[in-house]
Amino acid sequence: MILVVGGTGRLGRAVVPLLLAAGHQVRIMARGKSQPFPQKMDDGVELLRGDLGSDEDCRQAVAGCSGVVFTASGFGIKDSNPREVDRDGAVRLVRAAAAAGVRHMVMMSMPGAAADGPIDFLRCKAAAEDAVRASGMDWTIVRIGALLEQRLEIMRAPLESKGKMPVFGSGSAPVTYTSVRDAAAVVVRALHDPALRNRVIEWGSQTLTAGQIADAMLARAGHGSVQRIPAAAIRLLSVAARPVSPFLARIAGAAGWEESGAAAFQFGPGRAEFPDIPVTGLQQVLEASGAPGALT
Ligand SMILES: NC(=O)c1ccc[n+]([C@@H]2O[C@H](COP(=O)([O-])OP(=O)(O)OC[C@H]3O[C@@H](n4cnc5c(N)ncnc54)[C@H](OP(=O)(O)O)[C@@H]3O)[C@@H](O)[C@H]2O)c1
Repeated sequence: MILVVGGTGRLGRAVVPLLLAAGHQVRIMARGKSQPFPQKMDDGVELLRGDLGSDEDCRQAVAGCSGVVFTASGFGIKDSNPREVDRDGAVRLVRAAAAAGVRHMVMMSMPGAAADGPIDFLRCKAAAEDAVRASGMDWTIVRIGALLEQRLEIMRAPLESKGKMPVFGSGSAPVTYTSVRDAAAVVVRALHDPALRNRVIEWGSQTLTAGQIADAMLARAGHGSVQRIPAAAIRLLSVAARPVSPFLARIAGAAGWEESGAAAFQFGPGRAEFPDIPVTGLQQVLEASGAPGALT
């Protein structure tokens, strides 16, 4: 049995069918708050409504599992945050998994994760990485860039409603993105391939600027224009919004970090080691997206 924590999220939903296809029994755990909790999924999937904030829920979730995949996050959830989920929730789950005899845990993280990282999300991911490394279980840390499909959704929604596509900052800072498909493929590979045991892999799909993404999306849509949000406004928002909307403040903080160029990373070496895992870049994601909202 493989547990996918955050199995109703963007990445978790993509990991589950790959695990089933590989012959695993799967259990998903989520709260059913930011995402609808399914009544039923495919045969072979056990559904557990649970909260990473609860020791008891974590114990129940890992019982009988040989592997655990951590795909939960509080970053993009308005009434949650990375400290509760990506840090404390991950550490709680690691402890429960190690105590229950789980053999291998795959922890989703991000390049730049460090105790003194420039944004809270990266500091929280560093704490989760430390916990899984020290757990005594076999582990794989998969560091991915911003999920490409999510970025396209964020840029496409205002284009559809207002004819404007928001571009934060200069639009020329390089950011390395990972597509959901590519991230899911390497997660499942990590569970099977001894070459991915007890190591960190940085897994990207394509490095792009926001300007390049906007051009591709506008060309495809055939209408609309770019609306620039100046870098100074983003910096201001990342501080001024903290007391009223920590969610908005952290989105702005992340956008400011991307503007610095630090969100681009080298993914060639990891990719060269696993050349059979396909690379899904912007054009493929756009082509696969079809109807609005169908990006994942
Ligand atoms: N998205 C990115 O750009 C990005 C970049 C780097 C790394 N990552 C990492 O990659 C992983 C997947 O990201 P994603 O964007 O696919 O996540 P997502 O779509 O935001 O999904 C988050 C999942 O976590 C669940 N969750 C949240 N709080 C929970 C709690 N307290 N207990 C149990 N479940 C909880 C959510 O369901 P409920 O809220 O209903 O419980 C949902 O299933 C995460 O670990 C994330 O940190 C993502």
